[in-house]
Amino acid sequence: MSDFLPIKTVFEKEAGKDVSIRGWIYRTRTVGGLVFTTIRDSSGIIQCAIKKGVVSDEDYDLADKTLVESSVMINGKVKEDRRAPGGKEVHVTRFEVVGAAKPFPITKDQSEEWLRDNRHLWLRSRRMTAIMKIRSTVTGAIHEFFRERGYFEFTPPILQPNQCEGGSTLFEVSYYDKKTYLSQTWQLYAEAAIFALERIYDMSPTFRAEKSKTSRHLNEFWMAEMEAAWMELEECTEIAKEEVEFIIRKVLEKNREELEILERDVSKLKACLEKPFPTITYTEALKILRDKNDMEVPWGKDLRTVEEDELMRNFDTPVVVTHYPKEAMAFYKPVDSEAEAPGPVAKCFDMLAPEGFGEIVGGSERETDIEELKTCLEREGEDCRNYEFYFDTRHYGSVPHSGYGLGVERLITWICGLENIKDSIPFPRTMTRFTP
Ligand code: 4AD
Ligand code: MG
Repeated sequence: MSDFLPIKTVFEKEAGKDVSIRGWIYRTRTVGGLVFTTIRDSSGIIQCAIKKGVVSDEDYDLADKTLVESSVMINGKVKEDRRAPGGKEVHVTRFEVVGAAKPFPITKDQSEEWLRDNRHLWLRSRRMTAIMKIRSTVTGAIHEFFRERGYFEFTPPILQPNQCEGGSTLFEVSYYDKKTYLSQTWQLYAEAAIFALERIYDMSPTFRAEKSKTSRHLNEFWMAEMEAAWMELEECTEIAKEEVEFIIRKVLEKNREELEILERDVSKLKACLEKPFPTITYTEALKILRDKNDMEVPWGKDLRTVEEDELMRNFDTPVVVTHYPKEAMAFYKPVDSEAEAPGPVAKCFDMLAPEGFGEIVGGSERETDIEELKTCLEREGEDCRNYEFYFDTRHYGSVPHSGYGLGVERLITWICGLENIKDSIPFPRTMTRFTP
């Protein structure tokens, strides 16, 4: 067989042209001496007609009995046909099976969990393929965004001896006769690296043994993080906004077809590019909740999913919320002594997505005062001796610095409009699932 064309490009060929394609049988039916087989590859799907007399009897019989998801190679001529999806089909002259499929277990009306048990096969669906293509655009855009701006990619260790985002969600790993943990964030290592590289980013696997079975939590996810020397909170929030806008723009440019397969209302995404994302403080957020949503949240209480969702009813773009009460914050978030608020607040922020998709980014300026860090770590029940390497970053030429982490799957879930974060990643790991 001659060179194989990506299926998508067959639609650009003139009628009568000879083409060869290869892929998997998506659908097949036989009507009076004619087999209609839809073939898919990574680029698209096309209908192929196999007619008795045009192909050998052997090829016809093969086409007639070969089951869906078999892999095939096909030669044929392009034909215009208004009834065919996309207006063109291939009239087959040669039909060859490469790998015959057993009866494919996935048919209509299977439960979400059953599909997750069979994710290795369900990945072939148009839905999962569309999500994975969008995911590829998102991760590519993250690299592009930071590299264009002169950031260096810095790779942190994944096995780490300390917590940074709370000891209760650490995944313990036995390390010969000792124990260590899977990374919750790159942050402590990024804070060391900015003294050499100044502006850095990464995208790494992140692990949290969270005990929540929600549609927003994974136990293994990817976080895209940045850290920058000489940077204060406000600049940091602006970069996060630019990054999210950049990614949305790329997806709208490259993935119209996939968004359509997912039946995503793209006007909701476009709206986010038309105006700046607002920044409000936590204290202002409580006031909005009180005035507009009739929801009373006592000052000092962290915003939970219900409050975030309620707040976001008032916005159609992402919103940056800054200056949460220091009390509930991780040890490294410094107090903003100049902020006007009913109690001590931290120089930190979250970015919340519209349409009820929740927190997509978390970040802050970093505490540079070693005594403050020690007090807060001790309050979290930590042994400060384990953090000596971190304190060293403050001993030798300390600078103001900031950073944030973007939850890649949270962002994909929002962009794709998915009901559950588990579909934003090919093989989800949750409290109740670590297979296939
Ligand atoms: O807000 P988080 O916990 O922030 C940090 O880890 C900081 N150390 C980041 C930094 O400043 N470099 O996590 C960052 C983001 C969240 O906003 C959320 O989008 C995502 O990571 N995330 C999760 N995504 C999926 N499943 C989970 N269990 C997640 N936990 C956090
Ligand atoms: Mg957070």
